[in-house]
Amino acid sequence: MCGIVGYIGGRRATEICLAGLRRLEYRGYDSAGVAVMSKGKLVVRKKVGKLQVLADSLEAEPIEGAPGIGHTRWATHGKPSDANSHPHLACGDKIALVHNGIIENYAELKEQLMARGCVFRSETDTEVIAHLVGKYYEGDLLAAVIRAAKDCEGAYALAVICEDEPDVMIAARLKSPLVVGLGEGENFIASDMLAVRPETDQVYVLDNDEFAKVTRDRVELFGPEGQRIEKEPYVIPWDAAAAGKMGHEKFMHKEIHEQPGCIRDTLAGRVAAGMEEISLEGLTMSEDEIKQVQRVLFTACGTAYHAGMYGRFVMERLAGIPSEVDLASELRARDPVILDNTLAIIVSQSGETADSLEGLLELREKGAKIGSIVNVVDSAIARESHWTVYTKAGPEIGVASTKAYTLQCLVALMLAVRFAEVRGSKPKAELEELREGIARLPAAVEATLENEQQIVELAEKYQQYDDCLFLGRGVSFGSAMEGALKLKEISYVHAEGYAAGEMKHGPIALIAPECYTVAIAVRGEVYEKMLGNIQEVKARDGKVIAVAFEDDEDIKQHVDDVIPIPRVPELIAPIPVQVPLQLFAYHVAKFRGEDIDQPRNLAKTVTVE
Ligand code: AGP
Repeated sequence: MCGIVGYIGGRRATEICLAGLRRLEYRGYDSAGVAVMSKGKLVVRKKVGKLQVLADSLEAEPIEGAPGIGHTRWATHGKPSDANSHPHLACGDKIALVHNGIIENYAELKEQLMARGCVFRSETDTEVIAHLVGKYYEGDLLAAVIRAAKDCEGAYALAVICEDEPDVMIAARLKSPLVVGLGEGENFIASDMLAVRPETDQVYVLDNDEFAKVTRDRVELFGPEGQRIEKEPYVIPWDAAAAGKMGHEKFMHKEIHEQPGCIRDTLAGRVAAGMEEISLEGLTMSEDEIKQVQRVLFTACGTAYHAGMYGRFVMERLAGIPSEVDLASELRARDPVILDNTLAIIVSQSGETADSLEGLLELREKGAKIGSIVNVVDSAIARESHWTVYTKAGPEIGVASTKAYTLQCLVALMLAVRFAEVRGSKPKAELEELREGIARLPAAVEATLENEQQIVELAEKYQQYDDCLFLGRGVSFGSAMEGALKLKEISYVHAEGYAAGEMKHGPIALIAPECYTVAIAVRGEVYEKMLGNIQEVKARDGKVIAVAFEDDEDIKQHVDDVIPIPRVPELIAPIPVQVPLQLFAYHVAKFRGEDIDQPRNLAKTVTVE
């Protein structure tokens, strides 16, 4: 939820930290701060508001020196304010610390520390960690951080510096992501690889309960008992440009337009026209294990959950396996019964979402086989899974997930087809048609992007509405939910996704001239029923936008506007369907003047439960 950085080397730490924080701002942006060793003294600058407020302050009054640590915040404990911003200080202001995560036992620890005379200056859980480090500090910062970490329950990624050890930074990780970037005569700490990629492509990815002692010339890794550990540096496979906007006004717009290329990357080596079978390198289950699966349970949060809705539909339909999908937070709340031969599939772009990670651990504990569909390589969910098939989206910066969602659906579809191939649950000809349709997806998505101008005009026509419904049925139900979430989270329009069949059980009461409806009406099993729902809306003076195949002439007589998509097999339609809905949300938000890449109250990765 927050972004942390650290720098140690010969350059001005504030410059490196600010640049890193800008690349992490999507993780949280309600306040920011830095702490720097400057001329032998620890100097702190922290400001409520966007990162630019801090940058302006540092430009007006620069801070020389290094090492330095920095933080951009998404408030959990304590409202956004200067005092609650990180870094937090302790030990006579000689120790500075930044933190991403939540310390669940902070109240109890705070009470104990206050009883020892510690004076707290913020409402945050983080300040507790700083005082714990101060409590245990006896001249060895690493030892003090390791000891303090033992008292903490919850999640943390930490960077710590100390005035009495000006040549050292300490990093620590438990459940919140953290990497150490390796430079020449300088080294870096960051919440994720994105922040260090312009400086280096070599990083150590810290695991839970791991610590790093970082100097200019050396990085040493330690376990929870202070034992040295060795690991190979990870080489980041994408370049810094991939993390930039590449000429687009917003990351979200760039990422929507990257989808044909990302689909090609995700298909490469896995599906191609004429290939007899789908080949998924990350799927390490044997054919016998695939045949033994008796239940599939998808679980995720937010947009990834909507991809799980699609995955559940195609897995059950193609592989013939009883399948279900559940919100990770709700799954945990119901303490599910897991029988033998259950495969759980966790869907996550970041691979760090706390609810999804905790759901994985509980399902694994109950005996489920754990698969995952993840975008960030080596992320926590990937590392805790028995197998992972990666989406190849590259970095997704826009808080509203677009390309990752499309690829999550694509990977879920490929898994379902692969399972059907192995289990012989569908005729070979039907699977061949699906593989051909999958191989043609880059072109189908390119065609939807070429229609952007029509979407702009539609967005302008509907941008002033504050209420709307998104309706879908069957394989398109998840598409309706995702279309509504996209519009909701960046334009703040109250968009509601609903199963079309549920209209007459309540939501139809919302239909009125001031509430329009987006209906996903691609020709297929439920097309006639969708037409019925559309007529129910029209009969009550509601405007209707239909997403339909471009060769469907009938639909035009039933609705006010049509968003055409190329004809593809019905089971594949949710993938091209989503692209114009992403563009629609983007352009409505743009007409409404909203902050598309950093919507209010949101963060890109929710690493707290
Ligand atoms: C996506 O538009 C949202 N910002 C959010 O719902 C996101 O999908 C959800 O938090 C899950 O994140 P993950 O895919 O990284 O697990």
